Amino acid sequence: MGQTLPKPALRPFLAGDTPVLAAIFAASIEELTGDDYSEGQQQAWTSAAEDEEGFGKRLASGLTLVATLESSPVGFASLKGPSHIDMLYVHPGAVGQGVASMLCDALEKLAGGRGAKSLTVDASDNAAEFFAKRGYVAMRRNTVSVGGEWLANTTMQKTLGDGAKPGVPT
Ligand SMILES: CC(C)(COP(=O)(O)OP(=O)(O)OC[C@H]1O[C@@H](n2cnc3c(N)ncnc32)[C@H](O)[C@@H]1OP(=O)(O)O)[C@@H](O)C(=O)NCCC(=O)NCCS
Repeated sequence: MGQTLPKPALRPFLAGDTPVLAAIFAASIEELTGDDYSEGQQQAWTSAAEDEEGFGKRLASGLTLVATLESSPVGFASLKGPSHIDMLYVHPGAVGQGVASMLCDALEKLAGGRGAKSLTVDASDNAAEFFAKRGYVAMRRNTVSVGGEWLANTTMQKTLGDGAKPGVPT
């Protein structure tokens, strides 16, 4: 008999989530991005969460959603301003179960409901295919300086259809 996997759920970010989200951020980068980024680049990237207070402020300043499995946070995503996905991270132990898809579905609906016509994201090289599958199109290649290292990413954009707006007849 196959086991039924618990289903992910979503809730808004609370200030008390900061330490666990910082840990998810670091674990996700350390374990999931090694094919595309060097160890030095990964360390520079994870250092963004070492200042926990600053990281908490970044999470609180956007629209941040937390994905949980059996009430424990396993991932999070953050919308910056009306139309930019600032962060999307899933714990390595919870990947491949639709957690990121659920987070993105919700951000796209919320942004669309607030009037955004499109969403952008500066996608890491390991996440670019995930976003492409969701209809995000590569616009430009970037090289950004993070903690003394240069990291490449791709600005991708998705046009939000009327389906993102609640109550619009089809
Ligand atoms: C990219 C990431 C968020 C995906 O999380 P996830 O919860 O495993 O994604 P999902 O389970 O919702 O996957 C949805 C689909 O995308 C595909 N997918 C997910 N991650 C992928 C990857 N790294 N490369 C290619 N395809 C990927 C899945 O196979 C699935 O495809 P399907 O619908 O055909 O089955 C996760 O791997 C991660 O946190 N990566 C490290 C942090 C990072 O780079 N974040 C992005 C910053 S912009």
